[in-house]
Amino acid sequence: MGSLMALLCLLLLFPGLAAAAPSCPQNVKISGGSFTVSHGWDPGSVLIYSCPPGRYPSPAYRLCLNNGRWQTPGSAPGTKAVCKPVRCPAPVSFENGMYTPRLGSHPVGANLSFECEDGFVLRGSPVRQCRPNGMWDGETAVCDNGAGHCPNPGISVGSVRTGSRFGLGDKVSYRCSSNLVLTGSAERECQGSGVWSGTEPICRQPYSYDFPEDVAPVLGTSLSHLLGSTNPTQKKKENVGRKIQIQRSGHLNLYLLLDASQSVKEEDFSIFKNSTTIMVDRIFSFEINVSVAIITFASKPKIIMSVLHDSSRDATEVIYYLENISYKDHENGTGTNIYEALNSVYIMMNNQMQRLGMNTVAWQEIRHVIILLTDGKSNMGGSPKRAVDDIKEILNINQKRNDYLDIYAIGVGKLDVDWRELNQLGSKKDGERHAFILQDTKALYQVFEHMLDVSQLTDTICGVGNMSANASAQERTPWHVTIKPRSLQTCRGSLISDQWVLTAAHCFRSDDKDHSLWRVNVGDPNTHLGKDFEIESVVISSGFNVYAKKHQGILEFYGDDIALLKLAQKVKMSTHARPICLPCTLEANLALRKPPGSTCRDHESLLLNTVSVPAHFVALNGDKLNVNLKTGTEWTSCIDVVSQEKNMFPNLTDVGEVVTDQFLCSGTGEDDNPCKGESGGAVFLERKYRIFQVGLVSWGLYNPCGNSDKNSRKRAPTGKVPPPRDFHINLFRLQPWLRQHLEGVLNFLPL
Ligand SMILES: *[C@@H]1O[C@H](CO)[C@@H](O)[C@H](O)[C@H]1NC(C)=O
Ligand SMILES: *[C@@H]1O[C@H](CO)[C@@H](O)[C@H](O)[C@H]1NC(C)=O
Ligand SMILES: *[C@@H]1O[C@H](CO)[C@@H](O)[C@H](O)[C@H]1NC(C)=O
Ligand SMILES: *[C@@H]1O[C@H](CO)[C@@H](O)[C@H](O)[C@H]1NC(C)=O
Ligand SMILES: *[C@@H]1O[C@H](CO)[C@@H](O)[C@H](O)[C@H]1NC(C)=O
Ligand SMILES: *[C@@H]1O[C@H](CO)[C@@H](O)[C@H](O)[C@H]1NC(C)=O
Ligand SMILES: *[C@@H]1O[C@H](CO)[C@@H](O)[C@H](O)[C@H]1NC(C)=O
Ligand SMILES: *[C@@H]1O[C@H](CO)[C@@H](O)[C@H](O)[C@H]1NC(C)=O
Ligand SMILES: [Mg+2]
Repeated sequence: MGSLMALLCLLLLFPGLAAAAPSCPQNVKISGGSFTVSHGWDPGSVLIYSCPPGRYPSPAYRLCLNNGRWQTPGSAPGTKAVCKPVRCPAPVSFENGMYTPRLGSHPVGANLSFECEDGFVLRGSPVRQCRPNGMWDGETAVCDNGAGHCPNPGISVGSVRTGSRFGLGDKVSYRCSSNLVLTGSAERECQGSGVWSGTEPICRQPYSYDFPEDVAPVLGTSLSHLLGSTNPTQKKKENVGRKIQIQRSGHLNLYLLLDASQSVKEEDFSIFKNSTTIMVDRIFSFEINVSVAIITFASKPKIIMSVLHDSSRDATEVIYYLENISYKDHENGTGTNIYEALNSVYIMMNNQMQRLGMNTVAWQEIRHVIILLTDGKSNMGGSPKRAVDDIKEILNINQKRNDYLDIYAIGVGKLDVDWRELNQLGSKKDGERHAFILQDTKALYQVFEHMLDVSQLTDTICGVGNMSANASAQERTPWHVTIKPRSLQTCRGSLISDQWVLTAAHCFRSDDKDHSLWRVNVGDPNTHLGKDFEIESVVISSGFNVYAKKHQGILEFYGDDIALLKLAQKVKMSTHARPICLPCTLEANLALRKPPGSTCRDHESLLLNTVSVPAHFVALNGDKLNVNLKTGTEWTSCIDVVSQEKNMFPNLTDVGEVVTDQFLCSGTGEDDNPCKGESGGAVFLERKYRIFQVGLVSWGLYNPCGNSDKNSRKRAPTGKVPPPRDFHINLFRLQPWLRQHLEGVLNFLPL
């Protein structure tokens, strides 16, 4: 890409040149595809072709030179652009088995089948399909007899392996056939742990790229392992996987490197910013200490935020700085100097080491993650590999400390992203990938939006659901439980720790003291994942008495409608069972990312922050339904209509006697109304990707399910008297009771 660089330099040194120079011809169409130009038909403009899925443009791009001619790197002048069909490479060899069909390369959609000889077991995918990006789906098929110290590392499609001994210390090396590009490790060694060093080599078509839906989970798994928990979440397929050593007390330094060179358009840079903002927000939702450095770079790096700065530990500050960064910072030096960018990370590390002391635990226990977002390869500053080597040296990265550094190299765009260079920079770890190419910035945004899903953590982190649109209802609301008292209809409740459930008092009749037959279904009542728990103890608020105000003409009264159940066993945390965050606790404070010393009042003003707060409850069929919780003056008008309910409240003079300040009110406008069996369930809202329970479903003026089953919900007819209203126990008002009974279970903040 020397020519591109030379051109950019020329334009830089002599800006006047561009204006005087002739423009480039417009006869550059591509049949079956389209193109964009960065600066119209003027010299310096970059033309980029694109083709529909399953095809790729050849050539990929052109540059408009000062002489008004197009330059087309890698092609003869005047070459017409065409969309060519994408092909997947063929295996070069396959040990101890057979594959069909045997062709030189394969069209998109074609299948490749593998079979092993007797005595060998097939690992990986027996059938693989060619995808529209020129990559086979599934995993490399390997026929292994398990004889080596390490498993047979296989021969990935398109590669050639040297070395066929798999004992301790043995090495194998790989190269790619024809013009394929190797990503991953060209050499691997069988280690004591029975795991091959490095990462599997994959031979790619130079034009291949990654789909966001593939990158998000791979990147996410790798990162969440790092952020992970005290216990490894799961074994990786077939090998021990790397040990997860990070403790909640550990510290993570995250360095975000954003390419702002000329080839990155301003709009794309804005998406880089927006994507990393999402990423920062998610990272801080883990309850570990994180410091974020932000560095933008072109010809020179600019440090926007250093890990040495106190603000680097504060999500709000970091995001503020991130949003404030300007593409224009690099207007006077628009090259791509990845070496200097990485070197500035090295210098930052060095400074922190000086400050903390080289031999201190504080320094040695920091994990470092570098995320490099670029649209192309570096064109100045020399090989960035040198900076990576320096970083490895200062962090003392060796086999034992491999987990202390992860470098993710993410190439975005169609211009001159180079697999070789990204591969050289990215870390190489068994079963993980650290180098990616995405076709455009939108794909990058999607990746960052979906990658950090904490729902696989095995500890009791609160208020975490799977936010994917495709997740099951229970995965989205894993705290939701079904309570089956002996005789009454069922109720709902919420897990608030691994052993306690919060629900409504009215679910239990006061004369039914024997709870040995009651059950709480945790997980998912509709599948095998649901599990019935016995109840060890029941705490029903002593203030609850439906008939307390009968003499005042209030036939039913739901003050103090709250109860706690202690399960006989602890619930094992999973994607289907996990507690919700209760406000006014230390756990919620971490999730809200509020400073230590925050109070219950702070949480209330943060969560119930407007006169109409969007919130949710879970329906009988598991759907998440919507309400708007009214506060302040809107609360007063929300509860007012209760006086029209003459059956339950004949002779009512003061609505406040029925709806005390213990209740939140919803049910106006388009709000959904809870059905009877949904009583006791959480009324919750989302903040910072975490879920907080502010109320619990108690009673209402309208039952949308009537007496029918759960699949028919009817909206209240318009003009119904009284109009529908729903009242939910306000957990901020029942703090004294909660504190009295959950002492030692949760850590409460001062009121
Ligand atoms: C490849 O296999 C898939 C799934 O079995 C099938 O849907 C598809 O039609 C096959 N493709 C070809 C070209 O046979
Ligand atoms: C964060 O670090 C401080 C000390 O720097 C430590 O006291 C605290 O426990 C850490 N918090 C977490 C959640 O790791
Ligand atoms: C980035 O986010 C800001 C604020 O959320 C928004 O105004 C802007 O349009 C976004 N930029 C792009 C390119 O999506
Ligand atoms: C935000 O950007 C403006 C202009 O680039 C700069 O003057 C200001 O100091 C920046 N603020 C922070 C907090 O960096
Ligand atoms: C770029 O150079 C011009 C002229 O020397 C100067 O006015 C401007 O402030 C520089 N921009 C930056 C971001 O340094
Ligand atoms: C959800 O599933 C649909 C079809 O099953 C798929 O097209 C879509 O990409 C999935 N979305 C996510 C976010 O996984
Ligand atoms: C979230 O749900 C989707 C759809 O079921 C699933 O593909 C994904 O793996 C889930 N994520 C986690 C972390 O469980
Ligand atoms: C309502 O008031 C009327 C007249 O004062 C009285 O007769 C009736 O018993 C009252 N009803 C209740 C339920 O208190
Ligand atoms: Mg560039």
